[in-house]
Amino acid sequence: MSATGGGSAAPAADRGTLPEPEVRAMFDRIARVYDLLNSVMTAGLHHQWRRRAADLANVGPGDRVLDVATGTGDLAIELAGRVAGSQPPGEVIGSDFSEEMLALARRKAAGLRFEWGNALDLPYEDGEFAASTVGFGARNFSDLDRGIAEMARVVKPGGRVVILEITTPQKPPLSTFFRLWFDRVVPLIGKVAGDSQAYDYLPNSVKRFPEPPGLAASMARAGLEDIRWILTAGGIIALHVGTKPAGPVATSSNGALPR
Ligand SMILES: C[S@@+](CC[C@H](N)C(=O)[O-])C[C@H]1O[C@@H](n2cnc3c(N)ncnc32)[C@H](O)[C@@H]1O
Repeated sequence: MSATGGGSAAPAADRGTLPEPEVRAMFDRIARVYDLLNSVMTAGLHHQWRRRAADLANVGPGDRVLDVATGTGDLAIELAGRVAGSQPPGEVIGSDFSEEMLALARRKAAGLRFEWGNALDLPYEDGEFAASTVGFGARNFSDLDRGIAEMARVVKPGGRVVILEITTPQKPPLSTFFRLWFDRVVPLIGKVAGDSQAYDYLPNSVKRFPEPPGLAASMARAGLEDIRWILTAGGIIALHVGTKPAGPVATSSNGALPR
C-alpha cells in the first residue's frame, strides 16, 4: 500500500488507507486521548457494544480468548470477566502492534496479559484459543482477508471469531446523521484533540470498509461457517460472528483459505 499511489491525488488518510507503519504511528500518537474521544464520539455506548461482542464470543470460565488489535484493552477486559471463576482460571490475551496503546491497556488492567503482535501474522499456534475477537480494529488491517484468516487460524475447531466494527448506515435518517457526524463533527473533534490526520482517516476508513455482506464474505473465505451479523445503534455498528468448522480446513497455496 502506498501513501500516494493508486493514481489519486488525495492523501492516503483522506482515502481511508495508510501504510502499516503509519497506522501504528497514528495509534501511538492518539493513545493518550483514545478512550476519552471514544466515549465522546459514541456517547459512552461503546461499552455496551463491546459487551455484545463478548456475548457473541460465547466463552465461559476456563476458556482462553485472544482479543486482536486490543488497543487500550476494553474488549479484553470485558472478556476477562467471562473466563474467570474456574480452577485453573481462563485467560484473555490482548494483542496489538501499538506499544503506546498496550502501555495504557496494561495500566488499566494489570492482571491481564497484553502482548505485542501484528494481526496479520499472529504469534500464536493454530487452535490455541476458544475464540478470537476484534473491536474497531479490522478496518485498519492493511489486508483484511489475511487478518481474518489469522483470527480463524488461532481458534480451535468449533470456536468463534467475532468482529465488532463501525459500518455505514444505508437508510435515512441515520445515514444523514452519520454523514454529518463523521464528515463534519469527528474531524473537528480530531482537530481540537490535536490530531486532525487521525480523525480524517477515521471516517474515510469506515467508508472504504466492506458493508456487512462483504465482511461476511471475507469471513467465509477464511473458512468460517454459520456466519451471522447483527446491526445495532441504528445501523452504525455491525457485529459479525462466524464459527470455525469442526473438521480440518484446507488452505490454498498462497496461504489464503478457500471460499
Ligand atoms: C480503533 S483502535 C481499537 C482498539 C480497541 N480494540 C477498541 O475496541 O477500542 C484500533 C487498534 O488496532 C490496532 N491495529 C491496527 N492494525 C493492526 C495490526 N495489523 N496488528 C495489530 N494491531 C493493529 C491499532 O494499533 C489500534 O490499537
